[in-house]
Amino acid sequence: MYKAAIIGCGMIAGRFEDFSTSRTYSHAKAYRKNGAIGKLAFFDPDANRARELSAKSGGQAFAAISEIMVDFQPDIVSVCTPDNFHFSTVELLMQCAFLPKVIFVEKPVCHDRHELARLIEMERTSGTRIIVNHSRRFDVAHERLKALLSSGELGPLVRAHVDYYGGWRHLGVHIIDILQYMLGTLIEIDRVEYYCESKYSDDPTLNIKGHIGNASLSLVGFLENYYQILDMSIMCQRGQIKITDFGNCIEVFRKTVNAEQENVLVRDQAASGVGMRDCISNAIRLICNYLDSGDQSIIEPYGLDEAQNTMNTIWKGTEKYASQS
Ligand SMILES: NC(=O)c1ccc[n+]([C@@H]2O[C@H](COP(=O)([O-])OP(=O)(O)OC[C@H]3O[C@@H](n4cnc5c(N)ncnc54)[C@H](O)[C@@H]3O)[C@@H](O)[C@H]2O)c1
Repeated sequence: MYKAAIIGCGMIAGRFEDFSTSRTYSHAKAYRKNGAIGKLAFFDPDANRARELSAKSGGQAFAAISEIMVDFQPDIVSVCTPDNFHFSTVELLMQCAFLPKVIFVEKPVCHDRHELARLIEMERTSGTRIIVNHSRRFDVAHERLKALLSSGELGPLVRAHVDYYGGWRHLGVHIIDILQYMLGTLIEIDRVEYYCESKYSDDPTLNIKGHIGNASLSLVGFLENYYQILDMSIMCQRGQIKITDFGNCIEVFRKTVNAEQENVLVRDQAASGVGMRDCISNAIRLICNYLDSGDQSIIEPYGLDEAQNTMNTIWKGTEKYASQS
């Protein structure tokens, strides 16, 4: 049995999740439901949060990260702190005498290129693998879309459009990561303009124009005051994929010629359906498979090399914006 620790006991850690239902979106519930995970440890600077989540998950709350590393010695550590504390938390973990085998860190993995270089160096010298929770990569429905796109059935990409909220780095990272992952190509950023502030003071929501090969890409910001949104449309020459409701709703349309000899789209019922089911549970299962077998290839698509491709595109957007303002 593996031991797991969670640093930061807020929403994604499981603070609000109902542990009695079958679906899982949080780290604590995903660990609790995995038969290969035994004891759980929790830390949050708000001691009440750590106590509440440990009570709910049947784990133990600790007063400091250093105590967890000395007394509990976890195999896996989930870093569920706010964006600005991902790097410093991983760095602190890497300075401990006892090292976990895997650090599973929330997105965005870090703030800037210097921090990423340090993470890569710390991973190389420690042997501890760093896995980033770009959650869509762990979703079977998005994995099927990746296979569909690379099969060529829908034809070449024409255009991708995204409506989003919540900061270019904070939320845009999900969009860039999954588009680059599914399309197997890096995105080039052409134009950037300010749309609105996000809850992160240094991370406004930006309108972005770019391209993916010959196809155009647009990200258009939306005010969170109205509501939160993350909708994507991927238009190819012979079909379209619509991913709405934060990836929960997936629709595939295929081009056909109707009775009037017009080119139209028809919904492919079999290829459409729900997404984002139990992504973190899938991630923890993969991590356990890696720990059981030592097979690095299991976790390669979720590691720092891939995160670097994603963050480089994010930083190119940020740098373009800074050079314009
Ligand atoms: N992968 C996804 O789909 C997904 C979804 C939601 C959130 N997230 C990410 O998860 C992270 C946490 O988001 P959240 O919504 O749970 O936030 P949250 O504010 O609900 O929880 C963060 C917790 O971290 C604690 N904390 C603050 N500083 C800390 C520190 N230095 N050390 C330890 N704990 C600290 C806070 O007290 C709080 O309890 C964010 O980086 C966010 O981007 C990812």
